Amino acid sequence: MAILHTDKSAWKKLKQHADQIQLPENHLKYLIKQTGRIKKFSLSDVGLFYDFSRQRIDDKTLETLLELAKTKSIQKQYNSMAKGKKVNITEKRAALHTASRNFSDNPVFVDGKDIMPEIKTVRKNIKKFALQIHKKEITGSTGKPFKHIVVVGIGGSYLGTEFVSTALQVYANKNIHIHYLSNVDIHNFGKIASDIDPETTLWIIISKSFTTAETLANAKLAYEFVKEKGLDPAKHFISVTSKNSPGDTSSNTSMPNLCSFHMFDYIGGRYSVTSAVGGVPLSLYLGYDNFEQFLKGAEEMDNHALNAPLQNNIPIIAALIGIWNSYFLKLQSHAIIPYIDPLSKLAPHIQQLSMESNGKAVSTEDTFLDDPAGYLVFGEPGTNAQHSFFQLAHQGRPFPIDFIGVINPWYDQFNCKSKGVSNHQELWANLISQPNALAIGKDNKNKAKYFSGNRPSSTIIINDLSPKNIGHILAFYEAKTVFEAFIMDINPFDQFGVELGKITASGIRKEIAAKNDNSDHQFTSVDPTSKLYLDMLFSGNIH
Ligand code: F6P
Repeated sequence: MAILHTDKSAWKKLKQHADQIQLPENHLKYLIKQTGRIKKFSLSDVGLFYDFSRQRIDDKTLETLLELAKTKSIQKQYNSMAKGKKVNITEKRAALHTASRNFSDNPVFVDGKDIMPEIKTVRKNIKKFALQIHKKEITGSTGKPFKHIVVVGIGGSYLGTEFVSTALQVYANKNIHIHYLSNVDIHNFGKIASDIDPETTLWIIISKSFTTAETLANAKLAYEFVKEKGLDPAKHFISVTSKNSPGDTSSNTSMPNLCSFHMFDYIGGRYSVTSAVGGVPLSLYLGYDNFEQFLKGAEEMDNHALNAPLQNNIPIIAALIGIWNSYFLKLQSHAIIPYIDPLSKLAPHIQQLSMESNGKAVSTEDTFLDDPAGYLVFGEPGTNAQHSFFQLAHQGRPFPIDFIGVINPWYDQFNCKSKGVSNHQELWANLISQPNALAIGKDNKNKAKYFSGNRPSSTIIINDLSPKNIGHILAFYEAKTVFEAFIMDINPFDQFGVELGKITASGIRKEIAAKNDNSDHQFTSVDPTSKLYLDMLFSGNIH
């Protein structure tokens, strides 16, 4: 059970250096006092100011981390990925989410075929469809214009879209309300059914595979619901799916719909918000032009990740710091704390992006890793997080944090002052203070009031919540995640780990279906614990 990269000298050097950094004299409270530190350990490019000066690193750490990036040729690997190399080795697929926001005239080849024409056609179809809906040229089956769109999808088929639609809600078309039906839990459907007017609702079934049980169950439920309302489902449903998937209009006879938009197997679900998966609902909710600006922001960050020299490359530096914290400093969780409410759905999206990509135990050389890869990602907007789990952030088991700040809020008209400052300034007072308090700590004879400090964080600042800046942020985290995987020699584009639970569930599902068909059915072919719960479910009572 050998780990490939750990044999490399840079890795060994970093292990030794980690012992150095743990020494009391290298406590962050001393490091951050070094002259010119923030200038040295911060970068500003593609709309982001990225400050990593409160990370537990010194010149030697950064130098050796950059050496690791060089020996692993991670930027070269990223360029090969963007050019169509089949980096998803287990599924023998390319990973070309970057192509979905490529506006250059450069072709991108997969199996010798330029895929850009089909991508551009999908963009054109989305633009045309959104316009027809906004112009009320396409209406519901009773002729009323659509006012509600329901995204029916789970995981990568909704998390990215929910992040972007929440982050850009101020740009939303005031006549369109967006709803997310992701969970198979009937409460999700029940709430939406009570919030919408069925005559003016468009259901968007989004599933790359069109085999996901939850999405198919919710789609079927929605179909029956629409039919019960005396409406023609074929006029109230569209789908976004892989070409030739069971849900592709041409092959989907069971759920006739208005039209289908294609995403492609070379785009991973959790990397698909810039494809039709995000494109259709976001263009309907925000307008196609805002969606395109979001794409162009992501493209700018892609070009930065592909071309900026390692030491000036924001996602590469962030990835190296991610590896440093999780592997060498053994800090195996990571919080994303946006000090701006509209980014409240960023952490849930990055949870899937990072943990489904890098939660792996086998290397690209098909060897088991000594340490399974990946770290826990969680998050909550600031300052709410301060009144929730920051007790642990300051005095419990330390975890690295990304603080995110926005200089210009949308609502600057509400400007009363409390303690001499506006709400936005109060928010920033906390955004500025927390990284220092975590880094420096505070001595106190009363142990309960002692703060150890030495708790690392980065601060990311954008000027405003514009579509382009949201594109920058999204592509930053996507690139960071992939660079981390290239450093750890793992494949970030498959997710076989999700299958065992699904297979086990299908066995239970069969049992439940058998009982539905025949009330005398006994749960004899399941283990006693599962039988206990099945009996509870059918008796309607805890036992
Ligand atoms: O089960 C995990 C997963 O496959 C994710 O990778 C994916 O984003 C999600 O389910 C939804 O898959 P689909 O878009 O095929 O319905």
